[in-house]
Amino acid sequence: MKLNSANINVLVKTCRKAAKVLIRDFGEIEKLQVSVKGPGDFVSSSDKNVEKIIIDELNKARPNYSILSEEIGSINKDSEFKWIIDPIDGTANFLHGVPHFAISIGLEKNNEIVCGIIYDPIKDEMFTAEKGSGSYLNNQRIRVSNRSSLKDCIIFTGGPRQNLKDKEVAIDEYKKFSSLVNIPIRKMGSAALDMAYVAAGRCDGFWQRNLNFWDIAAGIILIKEAGGIVKDFKGKDDYIENQTILAANSKINTEMVKILNS
Ligand code: IPD
Ligand code: CA
Ligand code: CA
Repeated sequence: MKLNSANINVLVKTCRKAAKVLIRDFGEIEKLQVSVKGPGDFVSSSDKNVEKIIIDELNKARPNYSILSEEIGSINKDSEFKWIIDPIDGTANFLHGVPHFAISIGLEKNNEIVCGIIYDPIKDEMFTAEKGSGSYLNNQRIRVSNRSSLKDCIIFTGGPRQNLKDKEVAIDEYKKFSSLVNIPIRKMGSAALDMAYVAAGRCDGFWQRNLNFWDIAAGIILIKEAGGIVKDFKGKDDYIENQTILAANSKINTEMVKILNS
């Protein structure tokens, strides 16, 4: 079984096209990484090139949909629909030859994400979700994990960035979770893939401060459709305004909120 709606088909086609350039550029980076010259400026253009392919493809298929994309910002059109795009999530990994990054695109309709895709081109793992129709990894239905004992869980986070004003608070949060789990906290470097992994049950819970809408848009629908919970650190739905996100299975979500507020 697989998702087969018109918008999902547009997203799949778009990602496959953009991924060709992404894979080619990543191959170049791997080569440059070991050369004396190093990747230098070459790499900084990849985000923009990939973004252009994505936007051209989406505009061709849905000319009247608005766009919010990390590199170019907003293109507002007269439509209730808006694509939310992160052309490469995990850029630092990409630039350093670490094969863990993804294209992430969510579709918002009247302030709600209704479908999304997160595509890891190196592993050829395509995560898709549509409201009311479930979440999938390469056409297999996925669900969040069932683990209920936090100490046995595998938990992901990211950041804090160097210039984050709440850096110390973020480090304290890290310490709190670290003292409660047996498996050390993972920091994989792609928030979009972190969320896709929660949806697929590979990761039990994820929290992070200061993410942008394009980092999390597709992840939100993937997790909800996989039976998981997405909240802000207060356990409310204001994760975009508050720029705090907590995504987990329903067994550990409440405990994670408590820990963040302890
Ligand atoms: C970043 C990644 C990373 C997260 C950063 C994001 P980018 O996105 O999602 O995991 O910790 O906060 O900015 O810059 O690679 O698109
Ligand atoms: Ca990002
Ligand atoms: Ca990005």
